Amino acid sequence: MALRLAIFASGRGSNLLAIYNAVRRHELSGIELVLVLSNNSKSEALAFAFENNISAVHCSQISVGGDALQYEQTLLTILSEHRIDLIALAGYMKKIPKVVITAYEGKVLNLHPSLLPEFGGEGMFGLNVHRAVLHSGQSVSGMTIHFVENDYDAGKIILQERCPVFPEDTPETLSKRVLALEHHGYPKALQIVANQIEQSHSQESNGASR
Ligand code: GAR
Repeated sequence: MALRLAIFASGRGSNLLAIYNAVRRHELSGIELVLVLSNNSKSEALAFAFENNISAVHCSQISVGGDALQYEQTLLTILSEHRIDLIALAGYMKKIPKVVITAYEGKVLNLHPSLLPEFGGEGMFGLNVHRAVLHSGQSVSGMTIHFVENDYDAGKIILQERCPVFPEDTPETLSKRVLALEHHGYPKALQIVANQIEQSHSQESNGASR
């Protein structure tokens, strides 16, 4: 049975689109995209989901009335109502509550626009990351997809891809080059994780039948 994927996105949603296309073109197998969740009711990601008949849910601590516990419970309820197996953060700019990470251990992936552990941590998102890379004078950058742990941008790395940094780069030109790696890499990383989950399920059922 296909794994039920939720994508969490806060803004533009170009990685959501890349994953959606990979699923639709059968370049990504064993995964079904069933939910897009955003903390931003005006995000292009939510609008895209709505237009393409994917459950689109707006949820943030503010939208549930400001209470952290209420927010955590609401998130868990949404995930369980949609029978979510796997969560991919794709340009999601909020920290995921610890209870959700614990409930979905090894099933929450994050995308980061640098070669972690470099240029990660609190406040490092979007163009801030590319500005820091250019400021440091690095000649190589890239993107990282990793499992989510409670600390920012920590957790086991699933996939990294690299690209050059040119002396004439601006944060915007570098971000475009990294974004192309992300669009290509996120479906690949999801396939790696889906295969691992499938393998562990079949080992469990072989063990149970012995
Ligand atoms: C992506 O470049 C992603 O790496 C970055 O936000 C962008 C979202 O683009 N994420 C972070 O900086 C998280 N620390 P998208 O909305 O078009 O997918």
